[in-house]
Amino acid sequence: MAMTGITAGPFDAAALRADFPIFGRTVHGQELAYLDSASTSQKPQAMLDAMVAFYTTSNANVHRGVYTLGIESTEAFEAARDAVARLINAPSRREVIFTRNTTEALNLVAKTVGSERCGPGDVIVCTVLEHHANLVPWQVLAQQTGATLRFLDVDDQGHLQLDRLDEIAREGNVRIVTVTHQSNTLGVRPPVEALVRWARTQGALVVLDAAQTVPNRPVDVQALDVDFLAFSGHKTLAPTGIGVLWGREALLAETQPFLTGGEMIRSVALDRTSWNTLPWRFEAGTPAYAEAVGLHAAIDYLEAVGLEAIDAHEHAITEYALGRLGEVPGMRIVGPPDAADRGGVISFALDDVHPHDIAEILDRHAVCVRAGHHCTQPLMQRLGHTATVRASFYLYTTPAEIDRLVTGLLDVRRVMGV
Ligand code: ALA
Repeated sequence: MAMTGITAGPFDAAALRADFPIFGRTVHGQELAYLDSASTSQKPQAMLDAMVAFYTTSNANVHRGVYTLGIESTEAFEAARDAVARLINAPSRREVIFTRNTTEALNLVAKTVGSERCGPGDVIVCTVLEHHANLVPWQVLAQQTGATLRFLDVDDQGHLQLDRLDEIAREGNVRIVTVTHQSNTLGVRPPVEALVRWARTQGALVVLDAAQTVPNRPVDVQALDVDFLAFSGHKTLAPTGIGVLWGREALLAETQPFLTGGEMIRSVALDRTSWNTLPWRFEAGTPAYAEAVGLHAAIDYLEAVGLEAIDAHEHAITEYALGRLGEVPGMRIVGPPDAADRGGVISFALDDVHPHDIAEILDRHAVCVRAGHHCTQPLMQRLGHTATVRASFYLYTTPAEIDRLVTGLLDVRRVMGV
């Protein structure tokens, strides 16, 4: 257990909190109720220690030095790639590309594979559930290539509707289908399996934004049968500045590079350059190698706790939270009202109190939530909201934190006179 830095025994969120130093601090004299993990996760001491140890003992740039530090650093960086491949069950480590974050990973696909494959008469299928990171790159791609961008709608609870698929297919050649694995705003999990099956009948590639699921449930790229998958380190107990694009090797191998420069080349002459092999041909410049070491430690931690156990915990805490929030007068859950087919994210409105006022009053109780459009403006518009409050949960979330959210919301009602 010492290796992974876990101090708890069988799954126990309250005990796991001891592994996260930030929970040792207070805000306004109170312990933290951190309910914003969909935004970013808190960090376990084991991950912080791994980065400090790396910088303290082994720092040197990777893939360059033949001296001991450079070799150690390169080995640590590449071991992180193996850990990612294991985490998502990638068939090959060559399919794991380190990026800065999910946004960069999705842009990489749109700007390389997307622009190579899409043109007039082609169709890109997206959904109104998407985070801007998995919407804007496709919008730009459609504008630049002349391809048609179509959006699958949701019902009033945020469930993705697949009934227009065949109608969309009649508009042209469907080249790309892109979808979130779990809505960052509503927590709803779209029927990815059905979408993949349909995409295969069209010969289309499937891109999955897994930023909200890799952190908290087992994700298996082979079982999902998608073509590309993206996630961020910072939501996965790891540092900021590192993310992952996984892509099928055969597709990546025939795709031109995204960014060019050092690291991604084999040889450079003044008039021509040849590209490096996978995965490095998509990793131009000095990579976030220390952050990769942090990501490796975070993955070790998550695997030792167990992703199935984390998923089950989030499900239970979401069920508890939905029940408790239902006790607050004026509460309107935005999204599915029950805990089925959803992850640990709940958006809500309270009477007509502005979400920013709610978040500010909750902060007085040291309850951290996100308020706003959550980088999903089209979804908010579709559901008739300009903003919501969002509480999101993770492996360290306890029922006591949910209780404090509820107490805080009752105080919001008192302060705002509703
Ligand atoms: N994508 C992050 C969120 O949903 C920032 O909050």
